[in-house]
Amino acid sequence: MSTQNVISRKTILDIKKMKENGEKIAMLTAYDFGMASLIDEADIDIILVGDSLGNVVLGYENTLPVTMADMLHHTKAVVRGAQKALIVADMPFMSYQVSPQDALANAGRFLQEAGAQAVKLEGGKEQSEAVYKITSSGIPVMAHLGLTPQSIHQMGGYKVQGKKEDAAQKIMSDAKILEDAGAFSLVLECVPEKLAQDITSAISIPTIGIGAGVHCDGQVLVVNDMLGMYEKMTPKFVKKYANLSADIKNAVKTYIAEVKKSSFPDDEHSFK
Ligand code: KIV
Repeated sequence: MSTQNVISRKTILDIKKMKENGEKIAMLTAYDFGMASLIDEADIDIILVGDSLGNVVLGYENTLPVTMADMLHHTKAVVRGAQKALIVADMPFMSYQVSPQDALANAGRFLQEAGAQAVKLEGGKEQSEAVYKITSSGIPVMAHLGLTPQSIHQMGGYKVQGKKEDAAQKIMSDAKILEDAGAFSLVLECVPEKLAQDITSAISIPTIGIGAGVHCDGQVLVVNDMLGMYEKMTPKFVKKYANLSADIKNAVKTYIAEVKKSSFPDDEHSFK
């Protein structure tokens, strides 16, 4: 029997085990084949095809206009680019809120048509029926609490959530409800560090923080933010690990200048 070099993709069991073993989980977003290939080769644990697509790729003001068609299209490209990471697709606004049946049908499309391994959706107790319906049909769900950008108009802006005692208690209680409903992990966005730490200790599924401090089981950032490719808005929690906006603009300026003075293409880049 021949032994082939089969690359195995991370599963939700690997992710849960990382919490048990105290190994931190690194997650980044990606929206296309090229970026997915690069971050997969760098050994990222989870790739989230986030609906932040709306902001950083499609140029919308917020995530609300993002559709199922947009998300499926980009998830397919990411799946083609990444062979090792667990791929989670974000369920867009109105694809799961109307009914648990709708939620299941739309979640199924991400696995069946796009090749994702899991879906993510925003919200607490009010979405727990949808989470239960999806997970009990065999589709892994990543939950998302704290600042939930699809509720931007209800929240009145991108603000830290759970600062007051009653709000913190609601987020803690929602986290437990979502775990009971079958979620395999939980994103905590823009909540005080201490609340994220308490939730991380109180539930057995991994927490993945964004603006939620260092005590979460893992971290996530929007890839365009951390690579310095999105200049419209930089939240406090974003660390820029590169400054690609400047690199891209400099490269393009050099190209334009070389074209204008006919120094590109030179002999090296021409056929004789
Ligand atoms: O859409 C997204 O990128 C997200 C992350 C910020 C967690 O939901």
